[in-house]
Amino acid sequence: MNDHFLTLQELQKQARLGGGEARIEKQHAKKKLTARERVELLLDPGSFEEIGMFVKHRTKDFGMEDQVFLGDGVVTGYGTVNDRLIYVFAQDFTVFGGSLSETHAEKICKLMDLAMKNGAPVVGLNDSGGARIQEGVRSLGGYADIFYRNTLASGVVPQISAIMGPCAGGAVYSPAITDFTIMVQNTSYMFVTGPNVVKTVTNEEVSAEELGGASTHASKSGVTHFTAANDLDCILQVKRLLSFLPQNCEEKTPGLEYTLGDESRPFLDTIVPTSSTQPYDIKEVIYELSDNDSFYEVHAQYADNIVVGFARLAGKSIGVVANQPMALAGVLDVDSSKKAARFVRFCDCFNIPLLVLVDVPGFLPGTDQEWNGIITNGAKLLFAFSEATVPRISVITRKAYGGAYDVMNSKHIGADLNFAWPTAEIAVMGAKGASEIIFKNEIRSADNPEQKLQEKEAEYADKFANPYRAAARGFVDEVIIPSQTRIKLIKGFSMLQNKVDKIPLKKHSNIPL
Ligand code: HXC
Repeated sequence: MNDHFLTLQELQKQARLGGGEARIEKQHAKKKLTARERVELLLDPGSFEEIGMFVKHRTKDFGMEDQVFLGDGVVTGYGTVNDRLIYVFAQDFTVFGGSLSETHAEKICKLMDLAMKNGAPVVGLNDSGGARIQEGVRSLGGYADIFYRNTLASGVVPQISAIMGPCAGGAVYSPAITDFTIMVQNTSYMFVTGPNVVKTVTNEEVSAEELGGASTHASKSGVTHFTAANDLDCILQVKRLLSFLPQNCEEKTPGLEYTLGDESRPFLDTIVPTSSTQPYDIKEVIYELSDNDSFYEVHAQYADNIVVGFARLAGKSIGVVANQPMALAGVLDVDSSKKAARFVRFCDCFNIPLLVLVDVPGFLPGTDQEWNGIITNGAKLLFAFSEATVPRISVITRKAYGGAYDVMNSKHIGADLNFAWPTAEIAVMGAKGASEIIFKNEIRSADNPEQKLQEKEAEYADKFANPYRAAARGFVDEVIIPSQTRIKLIKGFSMLQNKVDKIPLKKHSNIPL
């Protein structure tokens, strides 16, 4: 081998070592994999092609000219996951703590430009001490260059952010703009200002984990969509998530082979309790309706009165939105509306059909909800469904009351097929509340008001707590036996697979943010 080749090999070896053996050991001691190990795990074996391995920073201040690491703290390139192209960047904590310099940012931007032009997802594996302190504003500019591209790429190609270490300050805004965030338990955190600043400004004592760890963001803030037990679990979940997504907004997710068999699901015939106030687990309905073990829940620990996630139906990727009677009786509130709206928007961006399971008693009343903007936030979900042009099918399993009936993918806001189970109750409100209002005088003047209320309640329920009035108007297309739901959905989505629908031409809409 001639000297030129040996030089190249030597440089490649040097680049692959990042910040050196000692720092790699430190990374491992923290139970974290290195950037390169993560990339290897994510991509199909041998598929990684690196871009910018020899990039160096240009800083001369603070003795930086003597501290140069090839690649400058981020490994960037492309490869395949299950034979499909993706672009990936992995921040290398062993090089200046993965901090973002001007050149580090340039590498990420180059990748994102390629992803947008070539129509493939971008996966970011974040592990960084934030802005490269020695660079000042050039680093801040680098961040903004990334945020700008995240925004332009939004809705063009799927963007996934794995948080596998620190992510603080303005750095959090890149993951926040991307479509999905997944955080590793105990080794990652995200916050705008850390515990020390919090202590100084508000006098609150809080640990980094409590302030911005994976559990906090999964359950309290909803900033992260998924959590992972460790680095390996995180990478496996990213791969699972990608399997439900198309490459870009022009494509559909490739389906898996599926041969129709016995699609009846008798368990569903008895799942809705006879008493309309008794809860049942809507996730059991989702499991029954979707292909074996295919349901991948998004935001599992946040706003659990609504369930959202991806599933496969006869091999095809779908998005599921379902009220959960087990939590707050499945009521819509601020958090559940925001959660579901964001999910509906994502599915609509990327041609993923929507299945909506409806069992909703209405919107949650109270000062807390009104003062926190249930009006604006509920409108987000209404808007998101109304604007979605993907195939949309609803199944009303039980309650569809009041404004929530309209919001939950009703026929009136553009759903394509609306099914109801015989247990469906579609009305302005529950029978008791309705009777108390419209028969107030009759009840008050009765010899036995309690008995009268019960009589009127039964009369109202008999008239309205069923799906047939809605079916008579065509607001429900068909009342179906629950065990037949899966085959109805398979046929319905197949019928809708070439749906073309356009919203009026405009610059862009103004969703109530
Ligand atoms: C340059 C950095 C760095 C940074 C860490 N390092 N952060 N170098 N710029 N931002 C270097 C350290 O000097 C050290 O170098 C190596 O990375 C590992 O750091 P340690 O501190 O030894 O690691 P650890 O104890 O694990 O602590 C990690 C850390 C801490 C919590 C991230 O390093 C830290 O607090 N860093 C500063 C974070 C910060 O304030 N960033 C700026 C935020 S403002 P050696 O040579 O010893 O290996 C911001 C604004 C963005 O990001 C705005 C965008 C709009």
